[in-house]
Amino acid sequence: MARNVMQAVQYVAYGGGSAGLKHVEVGVPSPNTNEVLLKVEAISINPIDWKIQSGVLRPLFLPRTFPHIPCTDVAGQVVQIGPQVTHFKVGDKVLAKLTHQYGGGLAEFAVASESVTAARPSEVSAAEAASLPIAGLTARDVLTQIVGVKLDGTGQPKNILVTAASGGVGHYAVQLAKLGNTHVTATCGARNIDFIKGLGADEVLDYRTPEGAALRSPSGRKYDAVINCTTGIPWSTFDPILNERGVVVDLTPNATSLMTAALKKLTFSKKRLVPFLVDVKREGLEYLVQLLKDGKLKSVIDSRFPLSKAEDAWAKSIDGHATGKIIVEP
Ligand SMILES: NC(=O)c1ccc[n+]([C@@H]2O[C@H](COP(=O)([O-])OP(=O)(O)OC[C@H]3O[C@@H](n4cnc5c(N)ncnc54)[C@H](OP(=O)(O)O)[C@@H]3O)[C@@H](O)[C@H]2O)c1
Repeated sequence: MARNVMQAVQYVAYGGGSAGLKHVEVGVPSPNTNEVLLKVEAISINPIDWKIQSGVLRPLFLPRTFPHIPCTDVAGQVVQIGPQVTHFKVGDKVLAKLTHQYGGGLAEFAVASESVTAARPSEVSAAEAASLPIAGLTARDVLTQIVGVKLDGTGQPKNILVTAASGGVGHYAVQLAKLGNTHVTATCGARNIDFIKGLGADEVLDYRTPEGAALRSPSGRKYDAVINCTTGIPWSTFDPILNERGVVVDLTPNATSLMTAALKKLTFSKKRLVPFLVDVKREGLEYLVQLLKDGKLKSVIDSRFPLSKAEDAWAKSIDGHATGKIIVEP
């Protein structure tokens, strides 16, 4: 029998962190014309989820309404389809990216647009698939669209630095970069050095050492590109470690970095700072889930929490020390 109420986790105002999350019973949403209703099996948390709660995107009117059920990256089973859905049928296993405006992920059921939903092969678990959308596609699209890496290995050789390589984006960036023709240096904490080498990094720096803080490659290489998955590193640290036409991709743009990026452009600097915002599409989800299926990429799960403990998962993500992805399971 179809359910019409579900357990969900929501917040009703900006701020409050994990204590601001409340467990509620709400109506199961209905899919619109081009949407699928999913019975959610796994949700992954991204820093943007709790940053939206903190009010960082308030100037952009995000979230659109309160109460807000946060989280966008989900995997589950299709239980109902909108009248114009053509790609999916009831019973299909899928992964999807919901919208930041309306969220909806941290719940037993969620509606997703068909255009940002992809089939999940049986070889890929719900948790592995839910880990992919934002973190995996940020890594892929930065590498392919900005750095110019060809993931089939046919491109020009590149020297790349990935900072915070043990995080959600970083652990995918290291693995994907190594599918291309790259030499990868990575930064992480001491406890993760062997883990990051295991993902394929050629050289690894402990970010709490002076060499790590200076981001200098142990072999003396300069970088064609830095995929900066951390925050607070000034341009003066990047400048000496970049090749003549090196680029720093800034995943967490703020006023200072946007000013620096604009200044580099205005002064025709060969070295560039490029702010980046991911745009998740079905094609990208299909691409990455196929890599998981083929064993060419793995989603590393830091920890799993039941929906009843979603606030603990939230607090862990805010703490900023996950190795890989944090998963919530209804
Ligand atoms: N622009 C976009 O489209 C986009 C998309 C995705 C993410 N982002 C942003 O990118 C950033 C990273 O996201 P994420 O999901 O990868 O975060 P995350 O998973 O929360 O990152 C946690 C990891 O970062 C490591 N770390 C923290 N500070 C570090 C430092 N100074 N040097 C090296 N490692 C450090 C931690 O290692 P330890 O535990 O050892 O400290 C931990 O393993 C966030 O600011 C996020 O908002 C932007």
